[in-house]
Amino acid sequence: MQKRVLIVDDEVSVCDVISRLLERDGVEVVQAYSAAEAIQLLDQERLDCVITDVRMPGGSGIDVLDHARANLPTLPVIILTAQASLQAAVDAVNKGAYYFLRKPFSGDEVRGVVAAAIEMHRTRQENRHLRHELRKAIPQRQIIGKSSSMQEVLKIADKVAGSDCTVLISGESGTGKELFARYIHRNSRRGDRPFVSINCGALPETLLESELFGHMKGAFTGAHRNNDGLFRVAHEGTLFLDEIGEMSPGIQVKLLRALQEREVMPVGGTRPVAIEVRVLAATNRDLEEDVRRGKFRADLYYRLNVVPLRVPPLRERPDDIPLLVEHFLRKACDAEGVPCKRFDAEAARLLKQHDWPGNVRELENIVERAVILVDAREILADALPAAVVRGRGAPSVEELMEGNPTLEALEKRYITKVLDESNWRKKRASQILGIDASTLYRKIQRYHLTKGGERNLALLAPSHT
Ligand SMILES: Nc1ncnc2c1ncn2[C@@H]1O[C@H](COP(=O)(O)OP(=O)(O)OP(=O)(O)O)[C@@H](O)[C@H]1O
Ligand SMILES: [Mg+2]
Repeated sequence: MQKRVLIVDDEVSVCDVISRLLERDGVEVVQAYSAAEAIQLLDQERLDCVITDVRMPGGSGIDVLDHARANLPTLPVIILTAQASLQAAVDAVNKGAYYFLRKPFSGDEVRGVVAAAIEMHRTRQENRHLRHELRKAIPQRQIIGKSSSMQEVLKIADKVAGSDCTVLISGESGTGKELFARYIHRNSRRGDRPFVSINCGALPETLLESELFGHMKGAFTGAHRNNDGLFRVAHEGTLFLDEIGEMSPGIQVKLLRALQEREVMPVGGTRPVAIEVRVLAATNRDLEEDVRRGKFRADLYYRLNVVPLRVPPLRERPDDIPLLVEHFLRKACDAEGVPCKRFDAEAARLLKQHDWPGNVRELENIVERAVILVDAREILADALPAAVVRGRGAPSVEELMEGNPTLEALEKRYITKVLDESNWRKKRASQILGIDASTLYRKIQRYHLTKGGERNLALLAPSHT
């Protein structure tokens, strides 16, 4: 992959000199002439390294560094400055800068530092990728939940594990349907036989049919040999039919037949083949409604829904949130190979209050992201995404609408309030506002907002709002 470096300096000549040096090493260079421009590029471009000047009109290179550290944890940032002060260098490195280059610099020095930085960035990314793959390969199957609704579902799961009956697992996306399917399988007499999972919504009809039931050599173009199909791959084990509600009517008929007759007909085959499989199915749709509307066969629905298992959405069991947070913190920190971190009280409160439309999966992703982004042991609310933070620190509608402001004045007032309430921590403010940091910077400039300045200005020149 092409190596790409961003150079940020208000002096175009400095950008050009460094560009020419690096291009000799086959590095592609992107230039920015202000911090705001750089921040925008950081959000858009795939980069391996950033070199930024510190003092620039309109915004400092330290803002660029902060933005990169907060949003792109693996990206190395090299600070470039004419300031000879040791303190400035120490500050920058403490803030997470990769290297501190003093102007004037030698060509070899720049090339050497950038090459090492790119190398490190590639290694870090590769490591993260490998860790991610590794984690996927070792499935986590522990079900966390002490709420009464979860205890109830677990009780049913334990019971059905002892039998061979078909179970229809329903629940919103990310609630843990597949986790329950695996749990039932593992605790059943089939536990040491295969667990085979297929997403019925992901394949076109003809492909799904041959995947499930198999096909004979020559059954269709490209069928170069016989294929057993997943019903037989899962022999003596469990077949998990995910997103069963997406199955086309044609396959629904064939599935019903397979369940009733305990045999399947491979595509292009002439003789049915016996199967010995337990079937679990899952859906995040209201299948009963689909049956009423004629979208899902009633007979198949009743055949699958021998035991219904409904996994409740996370917002209906907030007591489980702290346990899940704890669990995912431990998991993510183990995976990163760092000592276990924790959320501070405010962050923990925000996590518990959020309504989690993406359920446990959303929670898991947010905890994992925070662990990766925050180096400190304690994770503050800043590290949470806007959707979780929103509602906190945001001013009330009454307050904002007082005096019927124009749209522009309203925006200015809203942004000022949020900045003030977040103590001018711009990253935090941009999260509450639901915009990215570079947009916030632009608006601050456009409205000439300064810390504590809004009130003074208002006194001098009362606005027409
Ligand atoms: N109670 C729980 N305890 C621990 N981990 C959980 C729990 N519920 C869900 N998870 C984790 O959350 C993630 C999502 O779960 P899963 O894939 O089972 O959800 P799903 O309902 O099948 O989602 P979808 O409808 O999107 O397919 C998985 O990583 C799973 O391990
Ligand atoms: Mg699933």
